[in-house]
Amino acid sequence: MTTQATAMSPSPAEMLASVLRPNPVEADYPITKIEGEIPRELNGTLYRNGPCQKVLPKSGPGGLHLFDGDALVHAIRFDDGKAHHLSRYARTPSFERVDQEGRYCLGGLNLPAEGPIADPVPDLQPNTNIVMHGGRLLALVEVAAPFEMDPTTLASKGPWDYDGKMLGMSTTAHPKIDGRTGQMLIHGYQPVAPYVQLYVVEPDGSVSLAEALDAPWPSMMHDFAITENYVIFPLGSVHFDLEPYLAGRGFSEAVKARPDLNMKFGIRRREAGSPTQWIDVPSAGYMFHPGNAYEKDGRIFMDACKYEDAQGLLDDISTIRDASTQTTGGLAANPYLYEFDVDAGTCKETKLSDMAAEFPRLDDRLVGYENRFGYAATAEPSSGAESFFRRITKYDRVSGSSVHRDTAHGHWVGEPVFVPRNANAGEDDGFVLNLVHDAPNDRTAIDVLDARAIDATPLARLWLEERVSLGFHGNFAPQT
Ligand SMILES: [Fe+2]
Repeated sequence: MTTQATAMSPSPAEMLASVLRPNPVEADYPITKIEGEIPRELNGTLYRNGPCQKVLPKSGPGGLHLFDGDALVHAIRFDDGKAHHLSRYARTPSFERVDQEGRYCLGGLNLPAEGPIADPVPDLQPNTNIVMHGGRLLALVEVAAPFEMDPTTLASKGPWDYDGKMLGMSTTAHPKIDGRTGQMLIHGYQPVAPYVQLYVVEPDGSVSLAEALDAPWPSMMHDFAITENYVIFPLGSVHFDLEPYLAGRGFSEAVKARPDLNMKFGIRRREAGSPTQWIDVPSAGYMFHPGNAYEKDGRIFMDACKYEDAQGLLDDISTIRDASTQTTGGLAANPYLYEFDVDAGTCKETKLSDMAAEFPRLDDRLVGYENRFGYAATAEPSSGAESFFRRITKYDRVSGSSVHRDTAHGHWVGEPVFVPRNANAGEDDGFVLNLVHDAPNDRTAIDVLDARAIDATPLARLWLEERVSLGFHGNFAPQT
């Protein structure tokens, strides 16, 4: 049920800023404030990651870029109807250094260092995603190598360089784990040629492929997609320039929208040594997140959340933490469907809805293969923070229908993570886990939803002892 703001309510921008405000608390406690009942079939750990700057600039958190902040990793452990919350910072060299200095001495994407130090270390915080694969728990950000943490204690272990096979400057926060083979594919990008790298990590954690490839221009390539036989690289209408990046002149100087460049998709087979074919897209724009991709009837299909206004997007993510800033509406991505004919080298682009949608997820057992159901954080088509993700939507590719779960005024939702009831359960037979941020009351909950009735009262709502900053991505690791 949606309620209306009163005249005395904080503005949506103020509430959103409060939702993103860092709360540098490392937690370790059993969760006791539970509405409803945790399903006993739900056993395993929901890992979540997001920026949570511990040592703030003197001006406070409002000047921080959306991507700025130390990585505070959360583990919500479900066990036979009970739950426990553990969170720990990824203790990278730059985190330790700033923590010891006690001041904002390394700077960030928007802000210069305050009282810079003589021998700085790169400020690289793995604050975007957290993935369990091949026996490793990896905290990820697209400007650094993966950072390994202990899956049980969240103790920091250190960077992982793909067993010495790493080719570029970094890899992204968005690996794709093949739903059938268990292989993890991940890419990297950088502002110097060759602009893209591709890796395949086997289920046992060994690295079986590491290759560099070129692209028509250097870009911020946040995510990608896989199918049973192909990899798809989305090249957005955004240019990533080396010189300002190396000079440390800030994100807005290094990454610029280029509306004169239509998007392209790079498609290559997954086998070693395969060439990449760059296919033209009929329009410009940018996408952070494809949903899923799969092969059918000799074609490749891919859904994705596309921003039509790349400059508006870049502007908004730069100022989103400032409660007094009015966003431009660039935060609204829309669901699109792409259909590729690889032999003909063509791409058909279809906008599916005017509704804003982000953080698309599906049953991970179907990553790379045809899925029926998808989940996303969504909003009605309007501009600015007013529309920022107030609801979870479940999509049905077969019927074309969708079901929404609306939240109350001032509540924000994060990325929905689907967990099957058991290993053999049907595609939507299970649970959807998502964070709910209650901005007016400055508190955070984890909702456990019935995936077949996401608009119903949650099966369980778990109130955390402390407010958790909204964060970005997470994944569920079943109990083994
Ligand atoms: Fe992402």
